[in-house]
Amino acid sequence: MKTKDKNRQMRVINPGESLERFGDLEEFAIDVLVGLSEINKKLPSKYLYDAEGSRLFKEITRLMEYYPTECERETLENNKDRIVSHVADEPFNLVEFGSGDGQKTSLLLDHFLKLDLDFQYAPIDISQSAMVELFDDLDQKFPSLRVEGIVSEYFSGIRWLNNRSDRKNLVLFLGSNIGNFSHAEARIFLRNLWSCLNNGDLVLVGFDLKKDIEMLLKAYNDSEGVTAKFNLNILTRINRELGGQFDLSKFRHFGTYDVFTGAMESYLVSLERQEVFIEEIGRSFSFRPWEPIHVEYSYKYLQSDIEILAKETGFKVREHLHDSKKYFIDSIWEVKKTENNNSQG
Ligand code: AVI
Repeated sequence: MKTKDKNRQMRVINPGESLERFGDLEEFAIDVLVGLSEINKKLPSKYLYDAEGSRLFKEITRLMEYYPTECERETLENNKDRIVSHVADEPFNLVEFGSGDGQKTSLLLDHFLKLDLDFQYAPIDISQSAMVELFDDLDQKFPSLRVEGIVSEYFSGIRWLNNRSDRKNLVLFLGSNIGNFSHAEARIFLRNLWSCLNNGDLVLVGFDLKKDIEMLLKAYNDSEGVTAKFNLNILTRINRELGGQFDLSKFRHFGTYDVFTGAMESYLVSLERQEVFIEEIGRSFSFRPWEPIHVEYSYKYLQSDIEILAKETGFKVREHLHDSKKYFIDSIWEVKKTENNNSQG
């Protein structure tokens, strides 16, 4: 699919790879079956983000207690000229994984346009409807912006773009989304990203830093209970999409910090002994009183952890950008490839 405006192109790469395939019910049912059959029950955090989950997450980002969003916004606002200094010398693609959260990306787009930089914005998102929404928003805010929207998985999208453009890339991976990966998953993700990019390309990754544990606990156990609703919504989704019979009043959200791993962990805890039938799976799952289901990790980093991660995955740290409280880092890395390691990582 292409749009008419020559400033705006929307490409759907590998239609078989659409959100519908990845979000399809069979895969969801298998993931729920596998996760709830384990001794330590778990559900993959990607299923938190249906329409209601995405709405609730937006609500979380506006809470005072959930500091990362405002800290990253401030980081980008106060350092936008530092970011420009890394890309201003040649034409570039501003690639974004996910269709942006609006405010933070807009701040950079607005600044780059005011400086008349030679760039195009290339958001990559698996959801076509999210991309259509983003295009509507960009039409209103930045009518002159060149956009190459790519509807695909992140790595297929970036490979597609790289095959057609010899511009330098600056890839944004904002919002401390990297924190939802385990350390092993983060390494795999970043090495895959490295292998899709060219020597000298840049990435800007948002990391939430380790800090006072009380602050972390408040951020993931907010006083208005929005995070609790966000996590419980995964059960509502199972009820709706898989014919589950979860009674949400029989579970509670529990957010805790593991001092050994440095991760906030979110659980749904069964308040009583219960059996829950899920029609699409054709069986019931037993819960003991106080038995948890793990739903999400949010790993927190030290600056030194970030430096090790960059080095291990083939990047050189160009600069760490902080907010004034030093709660958050947006780290700018450069892809380093030599004759010997120039291949597919
Ligand atoms: C999307 N992600 C970076 C958020 C986080 O902080 O891990 C998701 C979230 N979960 C609870 N609150 C926010």
